[in-house]
Amino acid sequence: MQFGYFNDADKEYVITSPKTPYPWINYLGSDGFFSLISNTAGGYSFYKDVKLRRITRFRYNNVPLDLGGGRYYYICDGDDFWSPGWAPAKKELSFYECRHGMGYTKIKGARNGVSAEVTYFVPLNENAEIHKVTLKNDTKSIKKIRLFSFIEWCLWNAQDDSTNFQRNFSTGAVEIEGSVIYHKTEYKERRDHYAFFGVNAPISGFDSDRESFIGTYGGFEAPEAVVRGESGNSIANGWSPCASHCVDVELAPGEEKTLVFVLGYIENEHDKKWAYQTGTLSEANKGDTTSPKPVSQIAAGALVQSYSAPNGENVIDKTKAYAMLKKYATTEAVDKAFNELKEYWNTLLSKYSCKTPEEKTDRMVNIWNQYQCMVTFNLSRSASYFESGIGRGMGFRDSNQDLLGFVHQIPDRARERIIDLASTQLEDGGAYHQYQPLTKKGNDEIGGNFNDDPLWLVLAVVAYIKETGDYSILDVPTPFDNKPETATPLSDHLKRSIDHVINNLGPHALPLIGRADWNDCLNLNCFSTESGESFQTTTSKDGRVAESVMIAGMFAYIGEEYAELMRKTGNTAEADRVDAEVEKMRAAIMKDGYDGEWFLRAYDDFGKKVGSKENEEGKIFIESQGFCILGKCGIEDGKALKALDSCDKYLGTKYGLVLNNPGFTHYYVEYGEISTYPCGYKENAGIFCHNNAWIMIAEAVMKRGDKAFDYYTRIAPAYTEEYSEVHRLEPYCYAQMVAGKDAKRFGEAKNSWLTGTASWNFVAISQYILGIKPDYDGIEIDPSIPASWDGYTVTREFRGATYNITVKNPAHVQAGVKSLTVDGKAVDGNVIPAFTDNGVHTVEAVLG
Ligand code: GLC
Ligand code: GLC
Repeated sequence: MQFGYFNDADKEYVITSPKTPYPWINYLGSDGFFSLISNTAGGYSFYKDVKLRRITRFRYNNVPLDLGGGRYYYICDGDDFWSPGWAPAKKELSFYECRHGMGYTKIKGARNGVSAEVTYFVPLNENAEIHKVTLKNDTKSIKKIRLFSFIEWCLWNAQDDSTNFQRNFSTGAVEIEGSVIYHKTEYKERRDHYAFFGVNAPISGFDSDRESFIGTYGGFEAPEAVVRGESGNSIANGWSPCASHCVDVELAPGEEKTLVFVLGYIENEHDKKWAYQTGTLSEANKGDTTSPKPVSQIAAGALVQSYSAPNGENVIDKTKAYAMLKKYATTEAVDKAFNELKEYWNTLLSKYSCKTPEEKTDRMVNIWNQYQCMVTFNLSRSASYFESGIGRGMGFRDSNQDLLGFVHQIPDRARERIIDLASTQLEDGGAYHQYQPLTKKGNDEIGGNFNDDPLWLVLAVVAYIKETGDYSILDVPTPFDNKPETATPLSDHLKRSIDHVINNLGPHALPLIGRADWNDCLNLNCFSTESGESFQTTTSKDGRVAESVMIAGMFAYIGEEYAELMRKTGNTAEADRVDAEVEKMRAAIMKDGYDGEWFLRAYDDFGKKVGSKENEEGKIFIESQGFCILGKCGIEDGKALKALDSCDKYLGTKYGLVLNNPGFTHYYVEYGEISTYPCGYKENAGIFCHNNAWIMIAEAVMKRGDKAFDYYTRIAPAYTEEYSEVHRLEPYCYAQMVAGKDAKRFGEAKNSWLTGTASWNFVAISQYILGIKPDYDGIEIDPSIPASWDGYTVTREFRGATYNITVKNPAHVQAGVKSLTVDGKAVDGNVIPAFTDNGVHTVEAVLG
């Protein structure tokens, strides 16, 4: 069952019922200002850091239900009122549609002969969310409508906002001027930033105090002001500040009118933050302090305030807000900004596009998967309908992996991110597990000691250089723990990452796991018996015994990549040193890390096997299969293929591969959080879509294109669309996990959007299945596709040049390039050169 359809031409998903199985959301913003928006206009906005700089409020422990708040509109038409997005008023609509597009969402509703379309977007390079509201009268008589807007201000620090009521109920502060409501809470003390919500039309009323608008016992569904049809003209003074406008709109039959609302965020210089300060301004300049004037009547940049702050407070310098309001004061200006956003995305997405025999694959590759890669790059695991934004900042391992699917889009931003991440590394090569995007400082609450972390940095840097050819990044002076005096070239950070593994080996010469490796829930040094303790930070063991076969596989793979990079930069001694370590690691894996039919997962603190046929539960895990094969273990002697066959046999389901099997039915103190989840959920035998990609990649490496693609289609959202009622989450983005075969609700997804699944699946399909892989000196063409395919084309921009690649498969094989030509000339091997000539090149590869 579907709740909408893909509109590939406009790069949209069109939702046709407001009652999707869960709220289906989209993200607005591509750099500083971000918003989450659901198909019924729920969600919130923030600037850069969802915890420390939250602009609008959201009750996140209601998630994933969409009652937490939003940017809402109510249309009063006679005695009736309704919302264009159905919620929050929840009056039945004669028409409803939500179009989630690239960085914008359009919601359209109609009732009683009036239609309302709201386009929400964040213009490029602007710290603002625009709402373009178009009202149309589809009847034959005049309609007199009252439109109410509503957002609720968050008191900036989302954590404090949800905990420190005793103080916060007395801090809320606003200014009203013209048609604009300014959120100035804490501005008088240590903040030099404010937000505002304005409209480009005269208003007939406003509210800035939530209780006055909603009523003490009211709700978003039927705010008292809307029911009454009259704003309270309230000025927030403590309690909960909000912003609501009331605009009267008269529409002749067939007439349409558009209003533009701007939700903006402004930073002022500290010593220029006030327009005037109490006691320093002559009475004449104070202006009319009683009646709000429309913003159109206020000269941009004027210091004259038409409504001064209450209680004799200082008044914000609004120069920048005026400029922003002026910029978006007309529909034409808004349309122009909207078209620029569309163009921006068309350009970004043209960097990799394909035409395969599978329409669903094309829409994932060409549109939605790349879009999600941008979202995960921007937000890591911080803000979604499953991540509160309070708990986590940017993850070290997460963001490094997110780069893999993003680096081709905007390499410069990837470069900056790499340096930010590396700057939170610790001198011993370990890393802070997370950092806050606003301060860029490592989070002390979680600390470090996740022993996979350092290796992901190496992988990200390798991917960046292969994409760009920019080796100079290796020389960038980069500090440890953000301490400037410790700065050393980035290449030294990579060396320390590698050495962190080499210096931390356990009894079987396999890497010690630390608090956890990629699997956050395999906590082999935790041994927690106290409820409420964090499995991620509690450590009861010295950590010198428990080993990870997954990190071993990662080291074999990433260590070899590092050695190759060192060789490329002329550091042969370092390359040889690490190659030797990689060989030793492979030997250790094959000696003590293979269990007969698959790779083991780990050794626990007792030195006992984890993920072995000897175990009663959790006999086989997915992660080590993927990474040991990527690390080239067991390739020659058939052990790798055997492991992949075991994945199929024990982990495979119609909805994807489960993480481990059988699931853990009771709590194993020596394993930690993994055994806390009911069987089939999350890391305990759930289908973790992130690591499904590693098996696709491993299958592709083993030249089994049929299998690789089969796994691809089991979890790719465009393919899950047809059973949306089971899957329940957005059919246009990956979810972190889908309940596994042991779960009561097999096939039901959770944690959509912010997951390494996005980047890894993009890598799997674009680089391994379609086989277009950036390399140091060019692009490698090495497809692993279904034998049934006749061929496909890919257009790839690479270091300034455009490659139009046609792959033909006349012999219907799964892999193997038989011949390759570039611009009509035969090429030996399967790497096409990096032309860097801004030209267009024609590439033809024939498989066979
Ligand atoms: C979550 C975390 C990620 C971790 C994974 C497996 O997705 O963000 O860091 O690797 O879970 O536990
Ligand atoms: C839980 C989740 C895991 C996530 C971790 C982050 O353990 O199961 O997916 O990575 O929390 O703290």
